[in-house]
Amino acid sequence: MAITSLPKIELHLHLEGAAPPNFIKGLAQQKNINISKIFNSDGLYKFNDFKDFLSVYEIATSVLKTPNDFYNLTVNVLEECVKSNVVYSELFISPEWCGANDVIAWKEFLSAIRQASNYCESKWGIISRGIVTCIRHLGPEVAKEAAKCAVATSGDWVVGFGMAGDESVGNPKDYVDSFRMASEAGLKLTCHAGEWGGSISVQDTINEVEVKRIGHGVQAINDPELVKLIAEREIVLETCPGSNVFLGVYPNLLAHPIQKLRDQGVRVTVSTDDPPFFRTTMNKEYESLAMTFDWNETDFLDLNRVALNAAFCDDVTKDIIIKRLYNGLS
Ligand code: HPA
Ligand code: ZN
Repeated sequence: MAITSLPKIELHLHLEGAAPPNFIKGLAQQKNINISKIFNSDGLYKFNDFKDFLSVYEIATSVLKTPNDFYNLTVNVLEECVKSNVVYSELFISPEWCGANDVIAWKEFLSAIRQASNYCESKWGIISRGIVTCIRHLGPEVAKEAAKCAVATSGDWVVGFGMAGDESVGNPKDYVDSFRMASEAGLKLTCHAGEWGGSISVQDTINEVEVKRIGHGVQAINDPELVKLIAEREIVLETCPGSNVFLGVYPNLLAHPIQKLRDQGVRVTVSTDDPPFFRTTMNKEYESLAMTFDWNETDFLDLNRVALNAAFCDDVTKDIIIKRLYNGLS
C-alpha cells in the first residue's frame, strides 16, 4: 500500500498556522489590509528564522477577525487534512486570535469552529478536537486569560490546554497557574518545549507541569537521562520533523532525532505544525520519513497506535477513530 493512502492521526496542528496563503490573502483583500510583505514572489509565506516566523504568523493571523472567518478557515484546513487521509486531528487554537481572550467572544468563535468541525466530519469523516493554546511570549498574565477561556469551554470538544510561542521567553514555572486551572477543569496538558530551548527546556517543563505530551521535545535527545525519563513516564513527543528542518533546528531529516528517540523507547508521533508555512503536508511528512529512515507500513501503523493512545479525546471517540483507521486499511 502507498504510504500516502495510509490513514493518519495528527496531534499537533496550529489552526491559524494551517491557513493557506491564498486564504489569508483573500481575507486581507476583503478587509483592505495590506500584508503583502509577508509573501514571497511565489505567493508563499516569507520569513528568515523562528522569530521572523512568529511575527509573520501574527501578521497573517491578524486578518482573521470574525467567527465566520474561523468557520471558513477550519473547513479549509480540515479539507486539506483529508487530502492526506488524516482521520483525526487535534487543533491548537489560541483565544488570543479569537476575540483577544475575552470569554464571551471566545465562545462565539469556538461555536463557529465546532460547527465547521461537525460539517467536516459529516462531509469527509474527519474527526477533530481542540486544544486551547496560550502564547508564551505574551507572558503569564495573558496566558491566564487564555486558560480561563479553556476552562469555560472544557468538555467533549475542547479536550486539552497547551502553550506555544517563543521558548526563549520566561520559564515554565511562570505558567503553572494557567496549567493548573486547565488541568482542574479536566483538560489534558501539552506544552511546546525542546524545539529551541535545548533539553533543559524539556526537563523544566516536565518538572513544573503535569504534561502528558510535549510539543516537539526533540532536543531532549541531548540528555540521555532525560530521554530515559520521558520513555519511563510514557510522555509522548509531538514531533514535527518538516517544521524542524524548514526552520533550521536540524540541517536535514537524516539529522533529525526522531529515529534515535524511537530506538530509545520514546513514544513519538508525527505532525505538520504549520503546514503552509513549512511547505509540508502529512503525506509529505510520511513520504520523507519512509525515504530517509526506510520506514514501512508497520512503522507508520505503530505511529498511529501511539498517537491514538496519546490523543486527548474520550474513549468513545477513540473507538470511532479506530474504525476509521481500520476502514482506511481495508
Ligand atoms: N513553535 C512555537 N510556537 C508556534 C509554532 C511553533 O512551531 N507554531 C505556532 N506557534
Ligand atoms: Zn507547534
